[in-house]
Amino acid sequence: MSADMIHPGHLNIINEAAKLGEVTVGVLTDEAIASYKRLPYLTYDQRAQIVSSIKGVEHVIPQTTLDYVPNLEKLHPDFVVHGDDWKEGVQKETRQRIIECMAKWGGRVIDIPYTKGISSTAMNERLKEIGTTPEIRLKRLRRLIGAKKIVRILESHNGLTGLIIENTSVTINGMKHEFDGMWSSSLTDSTVKGKPDIEAVDLTTRLHDLNDTLEVTTKPIIFDGDTGGKIEHFGFTVRTLERLGVSAIIIEDKTGLKKNSLFGTDAVQTQDSIENFSNKIRAGKYAQVTDDFMIIARCESLIAGRSVDDALERCHAYVEAGADGIMIHSKNKDGNDIKEFCLRFRETNPTTPIIAVPTTYNQISEDELSSWGVNVVIYANHMLRAAYPAMVNCAKSILSHGRSYEASNEYCMSIKEILELIPGTK
Ligand code: SPV
Ligand code: MG
Repeated sequence: MSADMIHPGHLNIINEAAKLGEVTVGVLTDEAIASYKRLPYLTYDQRAQIVSSIKGVEHVIPQTTLDYVPNLEKLHPDFVVHGDDWKEGVQKETRQRIIECMAKWGGRVIDIPYTKGISSTAMNERLKEIGTTPEIRLKRLRRLIGAKKIVRILESHNGLTGLIIENTSVTINGMKHEFDGMWSSSLTDSTVKGKPDIEAVDLTTRLHDLNDTLEVTTKPIIFDGDTGGKIEHFGFTVRTLERLGVSAIIIEDKTGLKKNSLFGTDAVQTQDSIENFSNKIRAGKYAQVTDDFMIIARCESLIAGRSVDDALERCHAYVEAGADGIMIHSKNKDGNDIKEFCLRFRETNPTTPIIAVPTTYNQISEDELSSWGVNVVIYANHMLRAAYPAMVNCAKSILSHGRSYEASNEYCMSIKEILELIPGTK
């Protein structure tokens, strides 16, 4: 069981199992669940505690993979009892494997008829409607990093893009793929306001707008904190973000008038000293109230034309100063500098999360990044970059044709679709 939301269907299976003998429940760990669907609301320990308190349950054991066989080999149970919904769909093969495995010691699979009228999917939808609390949302990023091979984050700059990230999924080979959270980008937050990405849009304004995303989503948020501002101010920023339920801030080791990194060496990019930037990280960590908020240090050495050696020296120092993760950025197209950095960083630091932003080296897949040791991938600007050309084309079409007929057919969603897009519009 995942046992994130216990309902009478689960109790029925346990009751039926108890008629057959001593019941052991395999509770799926966060890692096992995150390998095929969204992370559960409750932690493994909470879920295991709940299941062990259910009448009829004698033992609870962790099931660390979707595969039941390793636990079955350990226990050699007489029966495996499961809801009969697994006779069809993606779990069909799993069931067959279990039947074959149990046959080795004469064990049997018992399928309990699915309890009608109860749907975990419907309950999940209802939970989504209820929303989340800042505390639960804040903790979620660390849990995801612990549970997933790679955490997938997409840029959001308003409530609508937040909803897209919250609700969009694709199913491939029975596995549901979705985004794990949102990146609040300084580039896109500035660009939607028609302003340059030079910290001209102040923190208060960005947080005011971020509230729209917070109101309609439950997934974790990583906030682009630019340079983090003055050391004396940074602690206030950290506390404000924690209060809102933001999971992490990423600050970059630049000083002076910040220029967007994707200009690379075409703009003057001045890096802070290791000492100053480490002090800023320490100030943030000192101000932090919760244990779960993350301060992630972003190294701009490769953006500023410096070496991988320089980036490594800096990042090790930032971790030493208390950084909970490091983001290594580059605008090179082949990704080789990022790969070299990650592999060498991992030689001496196997655990600190590495965050990558493959905007220019976008041919590199998530699997490949993960094999280099990357824990979080941020698609940093794609919602805005997708929307802008569509809007320009629509505007041009209206001008060219002197009417909106062509634009409506080619570039626009229907009126019906937009009316139904947001639940509660009617
Ligand atoms: C942003 O999205 O604002 C970033 C990433 O900081 S980048 O634009 O690549 O610098
Ligand atoms: Mg930025």
